Amino acid sequence: MKFQSLPGFRDSYPADMAIRQHIITGWNAVAHRYGFEQYDGPPLESLELYVAKSGEEIVGQLYNFTDKGSREVAMRPEMTPTLARMVVAKGSSLRRPVKWFAIPQLFRYERQQKGRLREHWQFNMDILGEADVAADAELLAAAIDSLRIFGLESADFIARVSDRRLLSAILLHLGASESQVPAVFAVVDKWERQPLAVSIDKLVTAGISQTGIDGLQAAMRIRQDHPTIHAQMQAFEALCAAEKWLDPAVTEAVDRMKRYVEILDAYGLAAYLQLDLTIVRGLAYYTGIVFELFDAKGELRAICGGGRYDKLIETLGGDPMPALGFGMGDVVLAELLKQRGLLPDTKPTLDAYIVQVSADVETVVLALARKLRDDGLSVERAFTLAGVGKQLKAASALGAAKVYIVGPDEIFGSQQVVERDMATGTEQRISLASLLGDALAGKLATR
Ligand code: HAM
Repeated sequence: MKFQSLPGFRDSYPADMAIRQHIITGWNAVAHRYGFEQYDGPPLESLELYVAKSGEEIVGQLYNFTDKGSREVAMRPEMTPTLARMVVAKGSSLRRPVKWFAIPQLFRYERQQKGRLREHWQFNMDILGEADVAADAELLAAAIDSLRIFGLESADFIARVSDRRLLSAILLHLGASESQVPAVFAVVDKWERQPLAVSIDKLVTAGISQTGIDGLQAAMRIRQDHPTIHAQMQAFEALCAAEKWLDPAVTEAVDRMKRYVEILDAYGLAAYLQLDLTIVRGLAYYTGIVFELFDAKGELRAICGGGRYDKLIETLGGDPMPALGFGMGDVVLAELLKQRGLLPDTKPTLDAYIVQVSADVETVVLALARKLRDDGLSVERAFTLAGVGKQLKAASALGAAKVYIVGPDEIFGSQQVVERDMATGTEQRISLASLLGDALAGKLATR
């Protein structure tokens, strides 16, 4: 009987690991550049943590079971509830703003499709304890840099941004009740994935007038109709004025969005931004500015999503604390890097290979390997004696930069080894003493 990995789960062979390590190294570097500290939490949590907080979509995808102690548990489908739980536990002892990152493996029983698996690695950056929009801008800048670091540019991906407060202020202005707003968010979330007629029907059911719906449709189209974030903001303001939406709540949200764009523009990132009111995010806990990063061609699922979730800490029993963050998965990112030819070379590399010519130089080979490894170099040698040609072939297959050929004539004659540069093929003789020191070289080179 042959076993296979479960659907949606990956076996990571060395070449796959090289790609994942490349991605994780980039993410760590960005977290460092922005001054975030790393944290982690358990991969298994109580089921309850997700049921109330994450929202229907994720709860429907949970890997949950009853453990041997009769506890209802779930494998983490996302990191945010764990982070919130950990922050609540520390309460006011944490220095604010808390700026933490994590790279957990997450589990969701999703329908497997391109870019979506049942496990993935997700880079999370979160800021807690800061209500100012400057933090929202900093977070998006970090998310954008988390893709730029791999060589992706504004021609490759875009950040679609919106604000739940903005949309909800408009909806309330249009006559929806507070209790209807979440249902409308659900409609808007599916705006691009379901027929327009279905969305419109649902807006009618939520009590939005035909004029209101016309205005909303125009707002949802702004991204398509105007090429730059500045033009989109201008068009949106003009639309708000024309539709007479500009009550204090809407104006406040528009001003906040203008400040957000202004900061990101000053960071030199305006080319990545698109105002997109269809972005509300599927997760239940978001309360403010929300964003998603997509490949520019729009062929793949979202690479990253995040936003402000100012009420989650309170809902989990903590003192009120504003919060915001994002999650970026490795699956779509790797796909995009592959499409753009930006994946790293996954061929193995080695600093040095030691060729052993005969049995009587074994102690020299071992001492040399020891010395080079202590110096921090990656070193390999053959486990069993083979012809020099075969060993050189092995060195080349392993991507060795240098080969040391240790032969009896050189060792017991001139106390030297041959060093070959594998890229140029040039060889030079170097004294064993310069590699191992006089005492050891003298001892080993004596029969
Ligand atoms: P999310 O939108 O559910 O947000 O996931 C964020 C990203 O994780 C997605 O854009 C996608 O790249 C990746 N992802 C999600 N599910 C899968 C999957 N099944 N297979 C492959 N990749 C996937 C969250 O999880 C929020 N907790 C993010 C956050 C952090 N918000 C605030 N802080």
